[in-house]
Amino acid sequence: MNLTALQQMAARGEKIAVLTCYDASFAALCEAAGVDVLLVGDSLGMVLQGGSDTLGVTMRDMEYHTRTTATGAKNSYIVADLPYGSDTTPETALENARVLIAAGAHMVKLEGDKVAVVQLLVKNGIPVCAHLGFTPQYVHELGGYKVQGRDEAGARKIMEDAVALDQAGAAMVVLEMMPAALAKQITEKVGMMTIGIGAGPDCDGQVLVLHDMLGIYLGKSPRFVRNFMEGASSIQEAVQHYVAAVKSDAFPTTEHSF
Ligand code: KIV
Repeated sequence: MNLTALQQMAARGEKIAVLTCYDASFAALCEAAGVDVLLVGDSLGMVLQGGSDTLGVTMRDMEYHTRTTATGAKNSYIVADLPYGSDTTPETALENARVLIAAGAHMVKLEGDKVAVVQLLVKNGIPVCAHLGFTPQYVHELGGYKVQGRDEAGARKIMEDAVALDQAGAAMVVLEMMPAALAKQITEKVGMMTIGIGAGPDCDGQVLVLHDMLGIYLGKSPRFVRNFMEGASSIQEAVQHYVAAVKSDAFPTTEHSF
């Protein structure tokens, strides 16, 4: 898998199936089950480390989990998160992004409206995935785990950020917890690929946290999650069912959307 192949999938309307992944064993399993993109998300701070948010995740954590994921999945496209505080200036972000690329990532993901950061990374040949809507690293500023862009001003700001990040050269954007109608408008407007999580069925692809879709919850399961272990006889089969459901538009439905 590579960036061009992903862009061709989006252009012909084939949905992109993304899952988070943090280690070699699951990476090999996800690759064999047909997942298109593995996201080494800083959600590992919650699902692996047991934190109440992602803010305690370090560059050292991300480098380690990116390396182990890349070791297990030699043919997958790997996106790695720049963790909290690692992208506060364009120069710091570039230095940290290079560490993740050297560890095996093909693209880095960063949260919020950091247009200057995206410009510098892209200028230096590093593909970027943006992340808008609910951005977990801003959980305190956002006042908790809440759907974003429900009001007109909020929706306008997300749309403006999406356009600015697209123009800055981002190749992909995660749209998290926002009204399905807004995610649809963004997908129609921007050139970058849109990957939804709690953002309705009209994005170019979907992502879920691996542990969530396997029914391994440390807390309450969010509305946008489906437990794919239900009806599956193995983890591999659950992941295959997820890929098939994303590709056939059977997931997400309105039940998983806002
Ligand atoms: O950290 C993560 O796993 C993410 C996904 C929830 C999109 O950003």
